[in-house]
Amino acid sequence: MKQKTSAEPDAHSNKPVTPAPRPSGLNRLDAYRDFPAAQQPDWPDPAELHAAVRKLESKPPLVFAGEADVLTRRLAQAQAGKAFVLQGGDCAEIFADAKADRIRSKIQTVLQMAVVLTYGASLPVVKIGRMAGQYAKPRSASTETRDGVTLPVYRGDAVNEFEFTEKARRNNPWRMVEAYDHSSSTLNLIRAFTMGGFADLRHVHEWNQGFRENPAYSRYNAVATQIDKAIKFMEACGADFDALKRVEFFSSHEALLLDYERALTRSDSRSGGAVAYDCSAHFLWIGDRSSKPEGAHAELLSNVRNPLGVKVGPKAHVTDVMRLIEKLNPLHEPGRLTLITRMGADAVRVLLPGLVRAVRAANQPVLWVCDPMHGNTFTTPSGVKTRRFDTIINEVKGFFEVLRYEGEVPGGLHVELTGDDVTEVMGGSEDIDDEALSRRYETLVDPRLNHQQALEMAFQVAELLGQ
Ligand code: PEP
Ligand code: CO
Repeated sequence: MKQKTSAEPDAHSNKPVTPAPRPSGLNRLDAYRDFPAAQQPDWPDPAELHAAVRKLESKPPLVFAGEADVLTRRLAQAQAGKAFVLQGGDCAEIFADAKADRIRSKIQTVLQMAVVLTYGASLPVVKIGRMAGQYAKPRSASTETRDGVTLPVYRGDAVNEFEFTEKARRNNPWRMVEAYDHSSSTLNLIRAFTMGGFADLRHVHEWNQGFRENPAYSRYNAVATQIDKAIKFMEACGADFDALKRVEFFSSHEALLLDYERALTRSDSRSGGAVAYDCSAHFLWIGDRSSKPEGAHAELLSNVRNPLGVKVGPKAHVTDVMRLIEKLNPLHEPGRLTLITRMGADAVRVLLPGLVRAVRAANQPVLWVCDPMHGNTFTTPSGVKTRRFDTIINEVKGFFEVLRYEGEVPGGLHVELTGDDVTEVMGGSEDIDDEALSRRYETLVDPRLNHQQALEMAFQVAELLGQ
């Protein structure tokens, strides 16, 4: 597991670590208001929105600029093939689940996966949660109709409530303030868990042993045994396990709600206020539905210095993606930009090569990360939104094949997962079928890998990484 050494910058240090000059962007922070903004809620009352935004502006930052800079450096390492990125968490966090046990099991799952991937890749794994801010969702329609009643669509807990009543579905800007508060307490717990001994490599390995004892997972025994031996070897060599108790864990979410992201964008005191960071999370990404190069999301994020992601779906045009890349990373800085491809298991093999070549031709340093979830969603005959475990793995394989063939680095994995035993994704060793889906289907938006499926994925990707 990647540890801080004295040669590396401290995440809390006050010194700017990305010295490359970039147009400050500070005087353009409000320019996005003149650009078309996809996927924004219709806030019913401008005065109410104004008051909620003022409140958000008065809140302290959730993350520090120096931490975002450290992540940029980690992502630059991944781009160079010297680290692997694991980004995971719920499709949509919900306020009711911002509780210690749920947060703990999610972190635990990501840490367990990270140990397996670290072994497979023989590289440090950069851990990023889709956590502490993933409260807003893009939707395919702005309303939903049930039994002749039409109401605003559910856009995530930061906007309205899932329950299908007029009161619950009203878009309420004060929920953005609530989202901030839940993000803050979640982040506090993440920091406590990852700094306070919970992430001890030996504990994490012990949890994985439990997984291994289940005969359904015997195919993973070889890797688990090897990790076991590696840890015993480290112990025998006198490795400093105390130093391995702390792990870096970064936060991320889709930067969807412009009012929220703008209110948490702050000028960086270290630079004398000359540059800005979106202090709602370390890493922000632009979703597939709001990724127009001339759109408001691209404009706002082009003016902050956080590391950024862009989702690239099967319908994206290479020329648009290239314009977006140029806009977000005009100085071609390593670590600044991650392309998160989510094309679908078949399309990835067809579409990704062209994009990879265009990016290379433009000499743009991007980190390639695979989201094998969003291109593989379907609805069962009984009306349940799901994904198949095998198809998910197949997209990851296609992603690795293409990047390796093109001589580029498959740099990471972006997954929707939970630490609980939900039944939302079909397949896996427990072979969840159509019928079993209804046993514990809890997600309000997209289906997530459960704890066991997430670990299985880690073992399978570890095999790919080791090849
Ligand atoms: C998501 O990540 O939950 C999502 C909506 O993804 P995309 O923008 O790729 O569709
Ligand atoms: Co999703």
